[in-house]
This record gives sequence, structure tokens and C-alpha cells, in this order.
Amino acid sequence: MAKIISLLNFKGGVGKTTSTHSIGSALSVYEKKVLLIDMDPQGTLTFFSMEEAPKLSVWEVLAEKREIKNCIEELEEFDLLPSTIELTLAELELNSSYNKEFRLKRAIDTIKDKYDYVLIDCPPSLSIFTLNALAASTDLIIPCECELASMEGLNLLLKVLKSPIKHLNPELNLLGILPTKLDGRKKISGEVYEMLKETHTNVLPAIRINSKLSEIGIEKISIFKADKNSNGAKDYRNVAEVILNGN
Ligand SMILES: Nc1ncnc2c1ncn2[C@@H]1O[C@H](COP(=O)(O)OP(=O)(O)O)[C@@H](O)[C@H]1O
Ligand SMILES: [Mg+2]
Repeated sequence: MAKIISLLNFKGGVGKTTSTHSIGSALSVYEKKVLLIDMDPQGTLTFFSMEEAPKLSVWEVLAEKREIKNCIEELEEFDLLPSTIELTLAELELNSSYNKEFRLKRAIDTIKDKYDYVLIDCPPSLSIFTLNALAASTDLIIPCECELASMEGLNLLLKVLKSPIKHLNPELNLLGILPTKLDGRKKISGEVYEMLKETHTNVLPAIRINSKLSEIGIEKISIFKADKNSNGAKDYRNVAEVILNGN
């Protein structure tokens, strides 16, 4: 049965989307069958992965207009349930519906036997999309930039998440905090990484700043296709190995 992992932080720009894309492609290097879900109306993960705009999206699934299996794009390294900008409007519609937090979970239940891993890229907020992701997941990864302000935000995030997790999905496992954008040239960056390891038990291997990672959206290819020997590829491979060994 698939492990379903949400990547969440209320802060933007911390590497949620880059991590979803790169952990997904790393798992596919290990021959795992992977589905990525873009739950962010901004659609960055979709933009990173597809040349053309998608015809169908996670919106059709949340609105219960289409079956999830008909909305999934089959790409080279992984499958993708894309996002479109219509998702922004969908929020209003969903807010007036019954049992709206469990729509994604019910849809994933119909296809999860097809996959080893489902990774969900969340928007940077506690919106209805994030609640759907939390309800549908078995595990949670919190990408956290190696910066002082991000560490403070992390404690607040963990506190704020307690109540929705208790109500929607008490079994949800915090798989780990993923330190991102570790910058060897800045002393504070390494210090934050050390502090994270001191204050939290499940800290995943860190992702270093790597210019190759910031280019994956331009070429529409994964870090492993772009340069499998880059630091970005090495770091995300390390994270994938921890995830694989957890099974
Ligand atoms: N390890 C990294 N090294 C260099 N740039 C990165 C790294 N991780 C993310 N980025 C860049 O930082 C920006 C924000 O990353 P993104 O994954 O979109 O964050 P989020 O989804 O949390 O908003 C993007 O321009 C991305 O290319
Ligand atoms: Mg993003």
C-alpha cells in the first residue's frame, strides 16, 4: 500500500515544490511507482513537470466532477495530478460543501494500490487544500530553510497543526523535518541546521543550496536527468534512501 506524504510549510519559498519534485524523481530512480499531486493553486509543481497546460486537474477531483484516474498525467519519471489556476476559485465552492476535507482521501483510496509513493505539494497556508492533503496522508515532511526566522516559524507551525491533525487524521506520522537551502558560506545556516538536530528527533538529511536545483523548472527535467552527480541530486537521493528504509 502506498505511503502518502504531504510536504507542508506555511512559509513560501522554503523548497516544498522543489523537494516534492526531487524526492519524487529520486524514488523513481529506485524504481518506485510515484504519483505527485499539486495542491497549490499557483501550480508551480505542474509548471516544473509539464510543457503544456494540463487539461484536467485536482480541481475536477475535489469538485467530484471526474474520477481521479482520468485526471492523472503519465510522465516519464512519475505520474502527476496537476493543478490549474481555477483551483483558486474552487476554494469558495468547497467551503460551502459537506465533508469537504475528505474529498482527496476518498479519491486517493481508489488508486493507491497502483503506487508505492504519493507525494502531495501543499500551498503555503492552512487552506481547504492543505486540510484535504493532511486528511489523505500517512506521513508529513516539513521542509525548513536553514535560517533563523524559519526555525521560529517551525515551532509555531507544529503547534498550529496539532488541532487539524487531531480532528482529521490522528494517525498522521511526522516523517521528518527537511532542512533546505543549507548554505556552506553562511555560518548561521550551519548553526540553524545543528540547532534543528538538537531540538527535533526526526531531522532528515539536509539539502544544500545548489544552482542546478533552481533550474529544474526551466528545462522541465528532474535534477537526476539534469545532473545526477550534482549536490542537489546527491542530497535528495539521501532523503529518498531514508524514506525507503522506513518501509
Ligand atoms: N536547494 C536549493 N538550492 C537552490 N535553490 C533552491 C533550492 N531549493 C529551492 N530553491 C529555489 O528556491 C525557490 C523556492 O523554491 P520552491 O521549491 O518553489 O519553494 P516553495 O514550494 O516552498 O514555495 C525556487 O526558485 C527554487 O528554485
Ligand atoms: Mg511551492
